[in-house]
Amino acid sequence: MNPIAAQGSLGKKTLSNIKATGTDPAFFSVWDVHAYYGESYIVQGVSFDIREGEIVALLGRNGAGKTSTLRTLARTDSPQLTHGEIWLDHKPIHSMSSYQAAQSGIALVPEDRRIIPGLSVEENLTLSQIAPPIGWSIERVYEHFPRLGERRRQEAVTLSGGEQQMLAIGRALARDVRLLLLDEPYEGLAPVIVQEIERILESVKDLGITTVIVEQNAIAALHLADRAIIMDMGEVVFDGSAQEVLDNADLRQEYLAI
Ligand SMILES: Nc1ncnc2c1ncn2[C@@H]1O[C@H](COP(=O)(O)OP(=O)(O)OP(=O)(O)O)[C@@H](O)[C@H]1O
Ligand SMILES: [Mg+2]
Repeated sequence: MNPIAAQGSLGKKTLSNIKATGTDPAFFSVWDVHAYYGESYIVQGVSFDIREGEIVALLGRNGAGKTSTLRTLARTDSPQLTHGEIWLDHKPIHSMSSYQAAQSGIALVPEDRRIIPGLSVEENLTLSQIAPPIGWSIERVYEHFPRLGERRRQEAVTLSGGEQQMLAIGRALARDVRLLLLDEPYEGLAPVIVQEIERILESVKDLGITTVIVEQNAIAALHLADRAIIMDMGEVVFDGSAQEVLDNADLRQEYLAI
């Protein structure tokens, strides 16, 4: 057992003592989060705040811990959260299961997009509404993603990569999402499709949905995002405006190799 898990306690900065000190917690607040895969200590004390409606690019080299951080925030079983607090709109995500975190409005769209084989586009969308809270109607998803409407009866795994990404985002919206966590949404997509997904994410932002985007295509993510958080070796090494990263060649070279 790792030493932090052995302490058996989560962080001490509770919402009540934040309130007592007079600082209102951010819409989404991550405080001193640590997580392990078995004995491997990967997420090493990550903290950041996100305002409602912001798009944040979470960047860093291969293996920096971006996917692990998203998985920790969505409360997947692995990696295991051993210390720290995660608050979404006053709800203690750190003490929830992944199912409860999803019900509270956290939607993780993983790199592989988790399209369910053997089901049509529409069945994939319907399945995401199997339990409350329900978000957009399926018709509304089709209004925003006409391509999905045209292909509603098509088996979803036969969609193009860009269409599968639209379906993955559409499925999250059909579930009353408050915080969208996207892991490499542009991966494997042609530049013209990347632009289409960017437009979709901008319209998602206009709807007030808060988004964290992890991307290898850092420049594209920085152009979309308001803020950037850079990770290295499981820790946050930069937290500032996206423009600052675009303007700072040394920072990009050191942590993003671009
Ligand atoms: N299931 C796992 N078990 C053990 N170690 C893991 C597991 N998944 C990831 N790791 C390790 O955790 C570290 C961070 O991996 P992670 O996938 O979070 O990085 P990343 O920043 O998303 O990288 P990439 O840009 O390549 O996707 C890496 O050293 C990786 O080898
Ligand atoms: Mg990753």
